[in-house]
Amino acid sequence: MFESSKNILVTGGAGYIGSHVVEQLIKNKETVIILDNLVTGYKKLVNKKAKFIKADIKNKSKITKIIKDYNISSIIHLAAYLNVSEAEKNKKKYYTNNIIGTKNILEACKNSNVKNIVFSSSCSIYGNVKGSVSENKKPNPQGYYGYTKFKGEELIKKLSHKYKFKYGILRYFNVAGASDSGKIGEIETSHGHLIKNLAIKSLEKKPKVKIFGNDYKTNDGTCVRDYIHVSDLADIHIKGLKYLNNKNKSFVLNCGYGKGYSVQQIVNIFKRIKKGVEIQYQQRRPGDIAQVYANTKKFKRVLKWKPKYFDIKLIIKSAISWEKKLDY
Ligand SMILES: NC(=O)c1ccc[n+]([C@@H]2O[C@H](COP(=O)([O-])OP(=O)(O)OC[C@H]3O[C@@H](n4cnc5c(N)ncnc54)[C@H](O)[C@@H]3O)[C@@H](O)[C@H]2O)c1
Repeated sequence: MFESSKNILVTGGAGYIGSHVVEQLIKNKETVIILDNLVTGYKKLVNKKAKFIKADIKNKSKITKIIKDYNISSIIHLAAYLNVSEAEKNKKKYYTNNIIGTKNILEACKNSNVKNIVFSSSCSIYGNVKGSVSENKKPNPQGYYGYTKFKGEELIKKLSHKYKFKYGILRYFNVAGASDSGKIGEIETSHGHLIKNLAIKSLEKKPKVKIFGNDYKTNDGTCVRDYIHVSDLADIHIKGLKYLNNKNKSFVLNCGYGKGYSVQQIVNIFKRIKKGVEIQYQQRRPGDIAQVYANTKKFKRVLKWKPKYFDIKLIIKSAISWEKKLDY
């Protein structure tokens, strides 16, 4: 089974986005090896048709062995910590996991058959921007989490020459929703994701919803983000990998829909779905930037891709229906 020269390693494949990427890879009949330490990932998100290895990206020799033993040709590297506020308080934890972990994976590619690496980066590398942002904008991360993603990008670009792989850097905007299969969705609650939090609140009788900061320089004072459905994002990974295989050219792409919604707007939509919601305005969270949404021109030109779930109500409803099924 693993003798094929097209085996794909997915780090963080037991996580929210990773499990959706794996689901689509499996649908495309790919051979998938998942590497995850289950720190924020879950056994029940692990696809039964994939090989699961419980391991840590901080363990370079173990990764090197896995890449060799399973004859890996492509890596989709999603494993990371991603709590923006926690990163400010515990920089060392984020440095070791996100930066050193990524470096380990890249160095484990030395003398291997790895030809392609797809990396989960983030719009947080841009820092404060007014309106839409294109891939050409010079990165200027404001928070430490964004900095770790920026460093990850730099390492990939630098080492791609040395170890002769092509890369696809995907700068995700805000990811939400769940697969139509009903089998996977976001479980982890520690990341502070707005739509996940609203989905949890949707199960309460009289939910109190917190909005962090209403004094930002935006139209209504709350933060503006670009929300992309997780199944669309997973699809981008499949297209991106095909692009690397067929064109043999590296790329950096924004992954958003190109439309910004403020937290207040999202909560207002939620209030139309769920009755009796009380809003509590709180202080800003450290590390949050005022507004960011994607310029998608390059993305459309390079991948020639159209989203299937470009509808914010549908995204919110999809997250809620997953939450209803979830038995913590
Ligand atoms: N969710 C978003 O909105 C968003 C936005 C931008 C970027 N990202 C990036 O997408 C990636 C996936 O995020 P997610 O939302 O699926 O979160 P997640 O927590 O569900 O997934 C991360 C996975 O990585 C695993 N992991 C973490 N550290 C590890 C380590 N040292 N060794 C092995 N496995 C490890 C976790 O157990 C988890 O399964 C991350 O790199 C994140 O920075 C996410």
